Amino acid sequence: MDLKGIFEKRFGHEGILYFSPGRINLIGEHTDYNGGFVLPGAVDKGITAAVAPNGSEKCRVFAADIMDENPYVEFGLSEEDKPEEHWASYIFGISREMTKRGVNVAGFDAVFSGDVPLGAGMSSSAAIESVFAFALNDLFQGSVDKFGLARAGQDTEHNYCGVKCGIMDQFASVFGRKGCLIRLDCRSLEYEYFPFDPKGYRLILLNSCVKHSLGNEYNERRASCENVVAEVASRHSGVCTLRDVTYRMLEEIQGLVNDTDFRRARYILDEKERVLAVCAALQNGDYELVGKKMYETHQGLSRDFTVSCAELDYLVDTARECGVTGSRMMGGGFGGCTINLVRDGLCDTFIEKAMKRFEDRFGHKPLKYEVNIGDGSRKL
Ligand code: GLA
Repeated sequence: MDLKGIFEKRFGHEGILYFSPGRINLIGEHTDYNGGFVLPGAVDKGITAAVAPNGSEKCRVFAADIMDENPYVEFGLSEEDKPEEHWASYIFGISREMTKRGVNVAGFDAVFSGDVPLGAGMSSSAAIESVFAFALNDLFQGSVDKFGLARAGQDTEHNYCGVKCGIMDQFASVFGRKGCLIRLDCRSLEYEYFPFDPKGYRLILLNSCVKHSLGNEYNERRASCENVVAEVASRHSGVCTLRDVTYRMLEEIQGLVNDTDFRRARYILDEKERVLAVCAALQNGDYELVGKKMYETHQGLSRDFTVSCAELDYLVDTARECGVTGSRMMGGGFGGCTINLVRDGLCDTFIEKAMKRFEDRFGHKPLKYEVNIGDGSRKL
């Protein structure tokens, strides 16, 4: 049965369908909360929700494909009504955040399901937040603009889910455009669509199936960056994020912050340069350079920012050995997918080799997804 059918059967009235996608990110990792650049795109996989007001003050939500937790939750809309189920905290949180933004959110019924893999670094949680932000804004006649919807999702993570994330995932989910990557300057919030049609290459994701859930470890990385900023800012006025920090300023404080924090900050400065270099390379059609930068990012994320894991490193090493143009871990880290820029002719051999070698080493096969870049949040 489709979502509309499930909705009607469960709640006895009609739900309206909305969709928000997951995302990929070509380059620019952990730069968003440092005021830097990111280059994400929405994918053609995401979360679909059937939603409708129910005339009460209660929300009734059914997660059609949740298996390992209670899939049906009812909650009220006051701050103290937060449900215990982790998945439901996203929906409760977004309802609160939309209320804070002046939307008259009242009771609603909802059923949702998705085809974006959970915990794979493709922002399934941002897709849930965005689809509900979009739906509630529409159904309760809110006037929150697109950036407001993305911010509501980000604040949901901060205030209700314990992840101090940046804006990239929710931004990509809301602003996605078919066939385009989006360069976002996370300091000024200026953005530009980059048509992405790498003739002769394909983007392949390999999911290590190491489930990540971002929490303490992610927040620790953010804290490292903030420690360095505080140290630099005590010497230089006007420094608010690592975006404002130059290599020279960073050198000045070497030895004054711990080495872990120092290396993490240096990675962020390097990554800022790489995103800009990749944007220029895209404009010149130089995909070999794009790929080279992807490998560099992976090395930085693995050795300096320390958010990779053995499985992801192994997938990237295998890609390099197979002659793949570019490969790196994608998203927050600690598991999830690698993103691979692969010449057409090499795809089959690479995938076959990577699958086999990975299984021999880790005892399970990675999953493969081909990326199609799709549109952002919408009513269906
Ligand atoms: C997660 C966060 C994003 C971003 C990435 C790393 O996906 O939600 O805000 O920081 O990690 O680039």
